[in-house]
Amino acid sequence: MTILLTGGAGYIGTHTCVALLELGYDIIVADNYINSTPLAIDRVKEITGKNFKSYDVDVCDIPGMERVFEENKIDAVIHFAGLKAVGESCAIPLRYYRNNLDSTLTLLECMQKYGVRNFVFSSSATVYGTSQNMPLDEKEPTGCTNPYGWTKYMIEQILRDTAAADPEFSAVLLRYFNPIGAHESGLIGEDPNGIPNNLMPRILNTAAGKMKALTVFGNDYPTPDGTGVRDYIHVCDLAEGHAAAIKYAVEHKGAEAINLGTGNGYSVFEMIHTFEEVNHTPVPYTLEPRRPGDIATCYASPEKAEKCLGWKAKRGLAEMCRDAWNWQQKNPNGYKA
Ligand code: NAD
Ligand code: UD1
Repeated sequence: MTILLTGGAGYIGTHTCVALLELGYDIIVADNYINSTPLAIDRVKEITGKNFKSYDVDVCDIPGMERVFEENKIDAVIHFAGLKAVGESCAIPLRYYRNNLDSTLTLLECMQKYGVRNFVFSSSATVYGTSQNMPLDEKEPTGCTNPYGWTKYMIEQILRDTAAADPEFSAVLLRYFNPIGAHESGLIGEDPNGIPNNLMPRILNTAAGKMKALTVFGNDYPTPDGTGVRDYIHVCDLAEGHAAAIKYAVEHKGAEAINLGTGNGYSVFEMIHTFEEVNHTPVPYTLEPRRPGDIATCYASPEKAEKCLGWKAKRGLAEMCRDAWNWQQKNPNGYKA
């Protein structure tokens, strides 16, 4: 079985390439490297000892994508390609709508033309907006607070409509919580462009001495220690969730939204302390006011994933912190030499 991974050179894509290759799937990657590098593909090959085709193509490019479908017998698609920075999406919304929506439409039209009907989509817990009903399950009403989130929301709807119009089509809408960590080899990991916004990359920068101190955004939330609580999930668990989703898509028709989270919420302080303990490395921090737009607590109900996909996250916070730091130490500047 051959799976096309759009955005397969990115953070989650590379880890999913490894998981799928190790399970014996054939894969093809389509990426324009706007936020990644072909080096990441070489690293996937190094980890797995397996070869596969990769196309340097913009998923919005219709002739370019038709070539990918023409030249390969594709059975299923995982659509990772997209822009994902929330702040940037508020500054340049049209670029986000154009890239994320256009790439999805191009891909779906190619799939229709070539008779490919299994689709797994990278959605996000951001579609739950500011909901406070924890744990979040898939029946929770959706709604977003920024253009990035709205692209995910709209693509979910496009996929539901596509499935409604074609009884043979299946789409699994995977709503990721907070992926962190890296492959245990330290050969692939998260390599954000510019100054990172998310907690783990900022902890790594602080521990590595690139930032003097981590800013903890708010210690007055209604949480056990006052800091924000999130459902951090090891990227390798997330990757394995995609393999389970592919199997589900092949065996079931229709569109299904499924959370990929652990069901556990960890605070910013818990994260800092676990990181320091596991890696014997200090993470100095300062307390700052709340970051605008942040919610106190967000964690998944992982029940539907377990029931439908037979998948459950296995790796704990200590492993996430250890593997993230291993990647950082082996690649102080990410994939750049
Ligand atoms: P990433 O930026 O590392 O990977 C995305 C990849 O898509 C990159 O390799 C980029 O070059 C490629 N890409 C973007 N636009 C493209 C286009 N038009 N044509 C071809 N390639 C294109 O991000 P990631 O963290 O691996 O995220 C993967 C997906 O998961 C994204 O859709 C993201 O929105 C979603 N997601 C990520 C998170 C997270 O915290 N990382 C959380 C929820 C959802
Ligand atoms: C962010 C995105 C969200 C995306 C998610 C996973 C925003 C507003 N939201 O959410 O859309 O789905 O990442 O990629 O960007 N924190 C600090 N100091 C820091 C950084 C973060 O204290 O330097 C705190 C935050 O206040 C929060 C927690 O750490 O409580 C996690 O933050 P972050 O990693 O940015 O993830 P989310 O807020 O969940």
